[in-house]
Amino acid sequence: MVSLKGKDILHGNQFSKKDIDAIIKVASELEKELKKKDSLNLLKGKILATLFYEPSTRTRLSFEAAMQRLGGGIIGMGSVESSSVAKGETLADTVRTVSQYVDVIVLRHPRTGSAKEAADVTPIPVINAGDGTGQHPTQALLDIYTIKKETGSLKNLTIAMVGDLKNGRTVHALAEVLSLFGARLYFVSPDSLRMPAEITSHLKAKKIGFVETEDMMEAAAASDLVYMTRIQKERFSDLSEYERVKGSYIINEEFLKRLKKKITILHPLPRVDEINPEVDAYPGAAYFRQVRNGVFIRMALLTMIFGKR
Ligand code: NCD
Repeated sequence: MVSLKGKDILHGNQFSKKDIDAIIKVASELEKELKKKDSLNLLKGKILATLFYEPSTRTRLSFEAAMQRLGGGIIGMGSVESSSVAKGETLADTVRTVSQYVDVIVLRHPRTGSAKEAADVTPIPVINAGDGTGQHPTQALLDIYTIKKETGSLKNLTIAMVGDLKNGRTVHALAEVLSLFGARLYFVSPDSLRMPAEITSHLKAKKIGFVETEDMMEAAAASDLVYMTRIQKERFSDLSEYERVKGSYIINEEFLKRLKKKITILHPLPRVDEINPEVDAYPGAAYFRQVRNGVFIRMALLTMIFGKR
């Protein structure tokens, strides 16, 4: 029996295959229930806090929508500038304080490891909504849910991850989760933005085959699915380096024509120029369906953390 009751969600590698299967199953049940009703009463009386120290649209709003669809309440800090963080309060003190008000904390913070630091100072569950260039485990779960829905199965897939593999926390978490399903991976990036050794050594230990290349066409031609990512401008200390690598990989109609096969395209969003809007009408362009799946996966996680499934 899988139980996430009272647990923190901190890292892509914390899940077993059984956990993922259970989360996908609950998400799919809740998705069906939401077709019949606008909201479910599973978490009535519970309150979720969003503590976001970095910009967010999808992650914060989908957690808020998920909690409200489950009948729970939400509070949030507005912005860092309008809270006591601006007076110099530490993350630990803010987390200890907010823990007195709510039942679960969703944290996004620029420091890698910050979600773990937060979890260490509070007895209530902490959900990592992105810790710097580290991890983004709930995104990986919604990605895998989307991959399963779009391709029909998680078995025998070849997946190309493209873009800023060094700084992109979504691909770090996703590679770890995919390793449970024996996927073959292509890592496509400029040489300076390769997948960190921490992730590749984990894959090697799990005997997951991966190819590192700078050639998106070669990788896409061999893959079932391309996972595009944004070059993470805010992580560059040297903006001239950003200028050098920006625009390295772009999917447009021309590219799809040359590819000559149907492919599924995902992106955690926001996009800058990696996917031309002309691609949005392509049947395999699944990134806005992926956005919607974020609500179901986050509903599933919250329901399970509170022991209601
Ligand atoms: C991603 C993030 O914040 O890491 N966005 C998201 O949560 N959907 C990707 C990004 O910012 O490029």
